[in-house]
Amino acid sequence: MNSSAAFGKAAALFAVLAMIGPAATIAQIPAETEAYQRGCGGCHTRERSVLRAIPTGSEADRRNWIERFMSTHPCEHDNLKPQIVEYLLTKTRR
Ligand code: HEC
Repeated sequence: MNSSAAFGKAAALFAVLAMIGPAATIAQIPAETEAYQRGCGGCHTRERSVLRAIPTGSEADRRNWIERFMSTHPCEHDNLKPQIVEYLLTKTRR
């Protein structure tokens, strides 16, 4: 096998990996920011008003409030709820 054939194979392999890459990323559990975007961002384009609605208080207080609120509020991906709670807690840490 000459070197240009080897290069061709490597290039083909890279092309295949490039196609697999994005699909593998989607299958992974998304980062917390993405969890919020997917679960809430469709309706809430302005994140600030969501964050403002969360009362100040200890981490435990805010967690309670967020979990109680979300239990009666729509979420586009219920399986992302735990990550969304973490995201909102991080964003409201003052
Ligand atoms: C199907 C659309 C929809 C989805 C999905 C959605 N919301 Fe809402 N949310 C609304 C609407 C509409 C209001 C305004 C309701 C009102 O003012 O009475 C609202 C209000 C709120 C409020 C009160 C503050 C405000 O802006 O009035 C908070 C906090 C909130 N949403 C958080 C969330 C979170 C967190 C998620 C994701 C888990 C989420 N929402 C997903 C539609 C949605």
